[in-house]
Amino acid sequence: MSLRVAIVGSGPAGIYTAEALTKQATVPLRVDVLERLPTPYGLVRYGVAPDHTSIKSIAGYLRGVLELPEVRFLGGVELGKDVDVADLLGCYDAVVYCTGAMVDRRMGIPGEDLPGSVAATDFVNWYCGHPDMPADRFVLDNPEVAVIGVGNVAVDVVRVLAKTAEELRATDVPEEVLARLAASEVKTIHMIGRRGPEHAKFTLKELRELGELANADVRVRPEECVADVTTASRQVRGNVEVLRSWTTRPFMGRPRRLDVRFWMRPVEIIGEERVEALKLERTRLVDGRVVGTGEFETIPAGMVLRSVGYQSVPLPGVPFSETTMTVPNEAGRVRDREYVAGWLKRGPTGVIGTNKSDAAETVRTLLADLAGRDPVRRADLDDLLAARGVSPITYEHWLAIEAAEAALARSLDRGDRVKLLGLAAMLTACDREPRSGNDLETG
Ligand SMILES: Cc1cc2nc3c(=O)[nH]c(=O)nc-3n(C[C@H](O)[C@H](O)[C@H](O)COP(=O)(O)OP(=O)(O)OC[C@H]3O[C@@H](n4cnc5c(N)ncnc54)[C@H](O)[C@@H]3O)c2cc1C
Ligand SMILES: NC(=O)c1ccc[n+]([C@@H]2O[C@H](COP(=O)([O-])OP(=O)(O)OC[C@H]3O[C@@H](n4cnc5c(N)ncnc54)[C@H](OP(=O)(O)O)[C@@H]3O)[C@@H](O)[C@H]2O)c1
Repeated sequence: MSLRVAIVGSGPAGIYTAEALTKQATVPLRVDVLERLPTPYGLVRYGVAPDHTSIKSIAGYLRGVLELPEVRFLGGVELGKDVDVADLLGCYDAVVYCTGAMVDRRMGIPGEDLPGSVAATDFVNWYCGHPDMPADRFVLDNPEVAVIGVGNVAVDVVRVLAKTAEELRATDVPEEVLARLAASEVKTIHMIGRRGPEHAKFTLKELRELGELANADVRVRPEECVADVTTASRQVRGNVEVLRSWTTRPFMGRPRRLDVRFWMRPVEIIGEERVEALKLERTRLVDGRVVGTGEFETIPAGMVLRSVGYQSVPLPGVPFSETTMTVPNEAGRVRDREYVAGWLKRGPTGVIGTNKSDAAETVRTLLADLAGRDPVRRADLDDLLAARGVSPITYEHWLAIEAAEAALARSLDRGDRVKLLGLAAMLTACDREPRSGNDLETG
């Protein structure tokens, strides 16, 4: 009898876990990858910026894992809605939770709930065409936008705001979103770092791209770019060098302007009915902590986008630490027969490749724990889902969705793929009737 493992979540962590299982197991194996969406690849599809096509091509590698004979993709199956932990433990020898980090962190300042104050998670979901986010969610009708945070997600968001729709035409951005980007009235993008340039989290390659924007001039104030980096890492020295070179760069009269700020923290989002301005306070470090200096500045902003990190959400019935916002684990082990990998295991940091070694560690723990044990499963997930009226999206269904996206791109004379918007369009593309109830609901 083969070892049966359920993986919950088909992002990089889930798929690398499936791959590690097939590589490390010395016994016959069957792996089911459960995913709440009809589509695999998690943030590779709904996070990685559309213009980063070479990074997105990692999906080609992940596809190879889903096509392994031991691995099966079951889309449209959500833990906590369609199945619970007890169901999975009743059907599989082990379960690995890989559900990532789906929500935004908050800043905890007044005005954060005003219309126009938005999470980067929502904005990213919007331009990536995530089925949870309607195409009409964003109207870019204000000339001033503030992006809080100086990490790689903030850089992605700034780039998408700064580029022309024409520059994004060859990407997979949904047609309705592209039309809204084409109508954008954004002129100035303020990118706000609460510490110095030497503390910024973005990476050098991503930072350089901002200096290469054809549609935007970049400005950094020299007085905010003072940093002693003689003993810093190569990465930090590179970042500061690039930022310093922007302090003397002449304006080229490009349609948009990117104003990168440092040593400024947001203290209030100001507005009556909606966001009108952002109040900032100059900061300094005291014993490594960011403290305000009492010197304030208010900048106009019709939209404030907080890009201050992602956060995992608890899964029903699965232990969760409200302190670390992760699932407590020892080398991936949560409890008997339950494991975790990826952002849910170690928090929302790290690139796609980081999840590979992380998943390999979890699989080593899992296989060592189960070695020599008799299989414990009793039920079959297919029967259980059928009894509940849940018919999963298969890998073949997903291929049909992909084919429809390629056909749409051809019909619009746009790149290799244009994303279908909404669950209904995806289900139609794979000849599945959208239904309510336990099955996938139309978005
Ligand atoms: C905006 C953004 C851009 C990024 N760009 C890059 C980049 O360019 N290059 C790079 O190397 N890294 C990038 N990263 C980092 C990279 O995406 C992550 O390291 C990686 O995706 C984390 O993998 P994961 O599998 O843990 O989570 P995810 O990729 O989030 O996958 C989790 C999956 O679980 C599913 N799921 C959630 N809840 C349930 C449930 N209850 N039941 C069933 N399924 C569920 C989700 O739908 C999702 O498919 C980016 C991250 C973000 C946020
Ligand atoms: N191209 C790529 O490779 C790529 C693209 C996107 C994402 N990613 C990866 O995905 C991960 C997540 O990226 P991320 O950008 O979401 O997170 P991140 O790298 O942790 O950056 C978060 C930023 O928000 C700031 N911040 C946090 N709380 C704040 C507050 N209350 N007020 C003001 N600023 C605040 C942080 O400043 P402090 O440092 O002061 O806390 C930091 O600048 C990273 O590992 C990233 O490298 C990679």
